[in-house]
Amino acid sequence: MLARATTFAIDGLASRRVTVEVDLRSGLPAFTIVGRGDAAVRESRERVHAALLNSGFAFPQRRITVNLAPAHLRKVGPGFDLATACGLLAASEQVPARNVDRWAVFGELSLSGELRHCRGVLAVAHGARRAGIEGLILPRVCAREAALVEGLVVAGASTLVEVASILRGGRVPDLPPVDLTAADQGDPDEQPDLSDLRGHASPIRALTIAAAGAHNLLLSGPPGTGKTMLARRLPSILPPLTRAEAIDVTGIHSVAGQLPEGGSLVRRRPLRAPHHTISSSGLVGGGTLPSPGEASLAHHGVLFLDELSEFSRSALEALRQPLEDGVVAIVRGQRTVTFPTRFQLVASTNPCPCGMAGSPRCRCSEGDMSRHRRKLSGPLLDRVDLLVHMQRPRADELGASALTTSQDVRAAVFEARERQAARLRGTGLLTNAALTPRHIRDLVHVDACGMSCLQRSYERGDLSARGHQRVLRVARTIADLAGSDGVAASHINEALGLRQHDILEGALAA
Ligand SMILES: Nc1ncnc2c1ncn2[C@@H]1O[C@H](COP(=O)(O)OP(=O)(O)OP(=O)(O)O)[C@@H](O)[C@H]1O
Ligand SMILES: [Mg+2]
Repeated sequence: MLARATTFAIDGLASRRVTVEVDLRSGLPAFTIVGRGDAAVRESRERVHAALLNSGFAFPQRRITVNLAPAHLRKVGPGFDLATACGLLAASEQVPARNVDRWAVFGELSLSGELRHCRGVLAVAHGARRAGIEGLILPRVCAREAALVEGLVVAGASTLVEVASILRGGRVPDLPPVDLTAADQGDPDEQPDLSDLRGHASPIRALTIAAAGAHNLLLSGPPGTGKTMLARRLPSILPPLTRAEAIDVTGIHSVAGQLPEGGSLVRRRPLRAPHHTISSSGLVGGGTLPSPGEASLAHHGVLFLDELSEFSRSALEALRQPLEDGVVAIVRGQRTVTFPTRFQLVASTNPCPCGMAGSPRCRCSEGDMSRHRRKLSGPLLDRVDLLVHMQRPRADELGASALTTSQDVRAAVFEARERQAARLRGTGLLTNAALTPRHIRDLVHVDACGMSCLQRSYERGDLSARGHQRVLRVARTIADLAGSDGVAASHINEALGLRQHDILEGALAA
């Protein structure tokens, strides 16, 4: 007796249809799974066996062969358990085989027959819709995630017994309500706010410019000056995720297994702050079945590299392509998987190993300083638009009230973003940080006085050609924050002031 069940294998951020064929024939009892499965798929035999018996079904005492087709596709993870169990139930005529054909099934089984949460449910639901399958049966805790895909019947079940009842034509349980409206930033009271910060007028200004134009930002300064504190407040002044962005972020977090059980749309712009011991594959993605790294988990959000000089050179080098192209390509055998990586980079560092560079208390030798500089002068810093040196806040500033709140800054950032979006309509770009040299030529109009300031700075040797372009992008954002159509000398001068190369003593001369 032969039966089939349909399920899906995760492939990058998408999924591919897998047919689980179950063949029962006479002979000595045996249970074999073939079709390029990993250890979790091989172990699935034990889970399926126990789950069937513990749910009150008969386990066929026959020679059982399960084939996961197509055989060339790698199958990884426990999500194939449910399809194997349903195929066995159909082959042994415990549920009608023609009904099993109408559904796709996906989920891990416990030994007692309960259905467990699995990663990549959103990708599976998209796959089922694209394949034109009527409905998808999956663990109830994953149902809200699958329901983000419109036009697909989603049936959440808690146990194998409930799945069998649906397959016998029983009632499909109602879904918990899913809010599909545009995402918001979550409860503002839960987020760290700029009003926690004392003093720091110019770093807050730099953070505002970075948020308004999506520019990359590096904060340098002695320990305990508030660098980490400031950087962690960037998401609080960024615009909320659009619906399309929220779906993208949810898909990535789902495949990476980072969505909470019972979770649905990710509503908050991501801030990822990996520890400096992270490997390059942790940062950009990797694994036998490639899984997204921190750079992709920060897609449409912020990647915060605290203590930049402590990250390994290889990890920082690996960020070069994601920063340049907004995607990372991971090659495994003859296949390439790509993950999106459009994040805003914020980094912090001490100006020297002891953190006191420039003050008489600095204990670093010339050798320490140059090693530190060499670590920082990588390809990564070529992509930094704003460099800010943070000093200790003065005593009177610490005692005074905060200079601003996230809500006020956010309003200015929104307005500047709207001006950019209007100017860039039809180009496919959204922010000044993404301007290409051609867009800069066509869209960034600098007045004569501003041009001569920039020229003078260039002729003095303060800027490279790349630095020249970067100043124009940042100056355009500063003009947008000021509500100005043209770029004036004051905007250029402020942008020049935010490239304080000397804070890393020439390390960033590009
Ligand atoms: N400007 C400030 N206003 C209010 N509190 C501050 C400020 N700066 C620092 N603090 C306090 O000091 C603590 C440490 O700040 P933070 O961790 O941001 O320093 P840092 O510059 O990142 O230091 P390090 O270089 O050691 O990482 C904060 O949690 C906060 O309590
Ligand atoms: Mg810090």
